[in-house]
Amino acid sequence: MTRTVVLAGTSGYGSTYLRELTELEGRGTVRLVGLCDVRPLDRGAARQFGDRAFDTRLDRLLAATSPDLVLVATPIHTHLPLGRQVLDAGCHLLLEKPPLPSAAEWRELLRLAQRKGLSCQVGFQGLGSHAYARLAELMAAGELGRVNGIGGYGAWSRDDGYYQRSAWAGRRELDGVPVADGALTNPFAHAVATALALDNSTGWSDIAGLDMELLRVRDIQVDDTSCLRMRTAHGTVITIAVTLAARTPTEPVLVVHGTRRRAELHYTQDLLVLDGRPERHGRTSPLENLLAHLDDPQVPLQCDIAECGAFTRVLDSVNSAPAPRLISERWLTHEGEGLQARIHIPGVEQAVRASAEQLATFAELDAPWAA
Ligand SMILES: NC(=O)c1ccc[n+]([C@@H]2O[C@H](COP(=O)([O-])OP(=O)(O)OC[C@H]3O[C@@H](n4cnc5c(N)ncnc54)[C@H](O)[C@@H]3O)[C@@H](O)[C@H]2O)c1
Repeated sequence: MTRTVVLAGTSGYGSTYLRELTELEGRGTVRLVGLCDVRPLDRGAARQFGDRAFDTRLDRLLAATSPDLVLVATPIHTHLPLGRQVLDAGCHLLLEKPPLPSAAEWRELLRLAQRKGLSCQVGFQGLGSHAYARLAELMAAGELGRVNGIGGYGAWSRDDGYYQRSAWAGRRELDGVPVADGALTNPFAHAVATALALDNSTGWSDIAGLDMELLRVRDIQVDDTSCLRMRTAHGTVITIAVTLAARTPTEPVLVVHGTRRRAELHYTQDLLVLDGRPERHGRTSPLENLLAHLDDPQVPLQCDIAECGAFTRVLDSVNSAPAPRLISERWLTHEGEGLQARIHIPGVEQAVRASAEQLATFAELDAPWAA
């Protein structure tokens, strides 16, 4: 069956959807009937999709095109107003992650989707990785033994241009509206959401305890180097230690510490390493999964907005915690100029990894810059 689709947000992450939509149109599973953006289409998108309906206002575009579903890949603080318009128009929704920048907003959109009986998938694409599915199956079957903890680590690097690309980058709020663009709540949100999902702890009340160390190397409102430790209602300890100030970036990993086996999930690479043995897997995208779910409701959504309660609780706690502390200049090094300028914390790569291995916080690891 061919579903009609509208995309809101056409550049930035939206360009990933444009590529996928091109492929799915080729297979005949979707037809892109409209594009919404507050800015004109960039040259590439205009060349390819200039013949489709375009509007700067989503509600007007939805009234004109009546699509089956809408993909919203716009800045986080626009998710609630645009998501509302989608559901009010009777369309299914694929909403980029993090779904909403506050608990109140998440509850509002969830209730609306439930009242309207519409599907709302969240774009946590790591939950569509078959490596994730295989690990979740092994854990459910008890293959890893008792799981004492899950430790996640991530070490990326961002330059000044990243924070200057848009008004919402690096913000907790913008013009009085929550944004939640911290390292834990946005770039590494996948690590938090995937760890919670592996523990079957996706509901709001599945979190029994939550501590965090929020730090930053830049003049921003949010954390860029942080460590989170949670205890879930199942008794599992989950730590997530991340930085955007690494000199040697590596892809993030979730380490599952079982009493019988150890697993590493490299969730951006569909790679599962079981007791040191690598397994490569494929993935199903959030859009493909949503289409399959609409064709056959027996196919569960990979990430129903209803399953984002625990994640949203973490996000809300991080975004409303005392402001992240600025790391002293004496622990930092600088590289590059202008928009390419980067700040590094020497040794941070080892610290985030040690956190995941020992389920320890930066302070417990005696990281000097965290003291
Ligand atoms: N799944 C992932 O791995 C991943 C990766 C990167 C970003 N994202 C998410 O994608 C979303 C977009 O991020 P981005 O960095 O591309 O943002 P962005 O600031 O680059 O904006 C994306 C597009 O949305 C448009 N836009 C802004 N406000 C709009 C509005 N009110 N109506 C219509 N269009 C509007 C912008 O003009 C732009 O073309 C965010 O939720 C972000 O967290 C997800």
